[in-house]
Amino acid sequence: MKPPGKPAVWSIAAFLLLATSSTVLAQESAAVDRTLTGDAACTRCHDESETKPILAMYKTRHGVKADERTPGCQSCHGASEGHIRNTGGTGAKRTLPDVTFGVRGKSDAKLQAGTCLGCHEGSNRALWRGSQHESRDIACAGCHTVHAAADPVLTKLSQPDVCFGCHKTQRAQTHLVSTHPLAAAKMACADCHNPHGSTSDHLMAKASVNDTCFTCHAEKRGPFLWEHAPVADDCTNCHTPHGSTVAPLLKARVPWLCQECHSGDHANAVNSAANLQDGAVATAGGLNPLANSAARAQLAARACLNCHVLIHGSNHPAGAKFQR
Ligand code: HEC
Ligand code: HEC
Ligand code: HEC
Ligand code: HEC
Ligand code: HEC
Ligand code: HEC
Ligand code: HEC
Ligand code: HEC
Ligand code: HEC
Ligand code: HEC
Repeated sequence: MKPPGKPAVWSIAAFLLLATSSTVLAQESAAVDRTLTGDAACTRCHDESETKPILAMYKTRHGVKADERTPGCQSCHGASEGHIRNTGGTGAKRTLPDVTFGVRGKSDAKLQAGTCLGCHEGSNRALWRGSQHESRDIACAGCHTVHAAADPVLTKLSQPDVCFGCHKTQRAQTHLVSTHPLAAAKMACADCHNPHGSTSDHLMAKASVNDTCFTCHAEKRGPFLWEHAPVADDCTNCHTPHGSTVAPLLKARVPWLCQECHSGDHANAVNSAANLQDGAVATAGGLNPLANSAARAQLAARACLNCHVLIHGSNHPAGAKFQR
């Protein structure tokens, strides 16, 4: 059965796929039929009686038959003549379709991805090959459910649960007191990550962690007259993105956070004592208000942010120490 319209793109993609695949597919040279007539070769058995909502696909964009780019059963699963004729036997012995998907799918992840990419190459999938997920053999159907009226991974509310199926650490983190509003579905993992691949580490959606954060926290980009070096370097020097016990999303409590890099004792202004680790007490008269470090001043000084209020950077001419 010849499909109407122009099946050119997919036929070529399918042909290349079949021709290069080392599986039994090589025998299957029949052109795929993406029309309802072609689908009927499958839906005469895979009908409403299936426990899985196979036919729900017709409610999705893959079911818009008027759009001649949309697939039919055979576009994804292959013409599967062996499966239809069933040369194998009953039950588990039944000859499989040419391509089966998902974690249970018998086809390897790269063949599955090749099938989908035949139509979905480029766009935000351009960097799929070599990405963390591709190289760990995660199939497209590891995240996508195509036989459902709505694919859970495409909806902000249900997307995290799809990811949490494999990323348990992040699930735990998002239940801590300080988090991004994921549970409220105001944002989702894909606002920060491109799960299909990225030019940056950690599959960030933009070219770097900071560029990703700036898409929503633009005011932290500056430019600042006085930059705080670790901010311009990487927000995760101080923040943790998924969740923390210390608000707002901090990796540690102040002053310990600051003291990972500064001792902050202010005891000897002359020797830049905020950075001295030994806590040496200054001779009287340092420029620093905390120079004569009485116990109380030491205590007050622990609330670094009381004085260093503009911790992300300052535009005040006298804001070099981020106090204004
Ligand atoms: C003669 C009936 C029949 C026809 C026609 C048929 N199938 Fe099947 N198919 C089965 C049976 C039986 C099974 C195994 C039980 C099950 O999972 O429903 C099966 C299983 C499958 C599976 C699951 C394989 C697995 O174990 O992962 C897929 C996918 C599938 N068929 C796709 C297709 C496609 C695509 C077509 C059309 C090209 C098709 N089938 C035509 C009867 C049929
Ligand atoms: C866009 C590609 C695509 C098209 C088109 C497609 N399938 Fe599938 N099929 C999949 C994927 C991916 C899975 C794995 C489960 C999922 O994502 O829902 C699957 C799973 C299945 C299964 C096994 C379900 C299970 O897990 O037990 C059957 C049976 C099946 N498809 C039949 C069909 C039939 C019949 C058609 C045509 C009406 C069809 N498929 C069209 C991609 C496709
Ligand atoms: C024959 C071509 C073809 C194949 C093969 C194909 N798709 Fe699609 N897919 C489309 C078209 C056309 C659309 C409609 C959206 C558009 O304009 O791009 C679409 C849409 C989608 C969407 C967006 C759905 C939405 O609601 O916005 C997802 C996700 C998707 N496909 C995933 C897959 C996956 C996963 C596979 C492989 C299992 C696959 N596709 C195989 C043609 C295809
Ligand atoms: C690790 C999970 C994951 C895997 C694996 C995955 N995707 Fe996606 N995909 C997503 C998420 C999340 C979105 C929603 C992206 C967004 O909202 O920006 C998406 C969106 C899409 C869309 C719709 C894009 C749009 O702009 O509307 C298509 C098409 C798609 N994926 C195809 C694929 C194909 C093809 C593969 C396999 C090569 C694949 N995906 C593998 C998670 C995944
Ligand atoms: C089927 C399992 C699976 C699913 C579902 C899944 N992932 Fe992954 N993911 C992995 C594996 C395996 C790795 C590579 C090993 C690792 O770093 O843990 C990975 C790596 C990553 C990384 C990169 C880690 C790094 O530092 O390089 C990010 C980010 C990520 N996944 C995000 C997501 C998001 C977002 C989703 C949901 C849209 C998702 N994953 C869904 C299995 C999965
Ligand atoms: C606000 C932005 C943001 C959101 C939202 C977000 N992430 Fe991340 N994610 C990051 C950053 C930044 C990193 C790298 C630095 C780090 O782990 O501290 C990262 C790292 C990861 C890693 C790799 C961790 C490692 O140790 O290598 C995984 C896996 C991951 N994220 C999964 C997810 C999942 C799943 C979701 C959705 C529930 C999600 N992320 C939501 C920003 C985000
Ligand atoms: C898609 C938009 C978006 C992106 C991208 C984003 N955030 Fe957020 N961020 C939010 C929203 C929304 C809130 C909650 C604001 C509120 O509740 O007022 C928030 C809150 C925060 C908070 C304060 C949390 C609290 O408990 O008050 C910090 C810190 C933060 N984000 C850091 C980051 C960092 C670091 C990145 C980059 C890794 C990042 N954000 C990326 C949207 C985003
Ligand atoms: C040197 C440590 C440090 C770095 C690096 C850092 N922050 Fe912060 N951030 C903090 C501290 C401390 C607070 C709490 C401020 C307070 O309570 O007054 C904070 C608060 C926030 C808040 C919530 C309050 C507000 O000011 O809106 C957001 C959003 C935020 N940071 C985003 C970012 C982004 C985006 C980056 C990267 C460009 C970044 N931070 C880098 C230390 C840092
Ligand atoms: C990841 C390391 C790191 C963390 C954490 C950090 N800083 Fe810094 N900070 C730096 C670096 C690097 C400079 C630049 C030093 C320079 O220019 O000599 C700097 C500069 C400063 C300056 C200006 C110093 C000067 O000589 O102009 C102040 C004030 C300051 N930080 C306060 C803080 C406070 C308060 C915190 C905690 C909220 C903090 N920093 C957290 C690394 C860090
Ligand atoms: C009572 C206000 C106050 C508190 C609290 C405070 N600082 Fe300062 N800090 C200052 C002032 C004022 C300066 C500028 C001194 C100068 O110009 O010589 C300064 C300077 C610094 C410098 C730059 C040192 C230098 O030699 O130029 C660093 C780093 C610093 N503080 C870190 C911290 C840290 C870390 C904490 C918390 C442990 C903290 N500060 C608490 C007021 C304070």
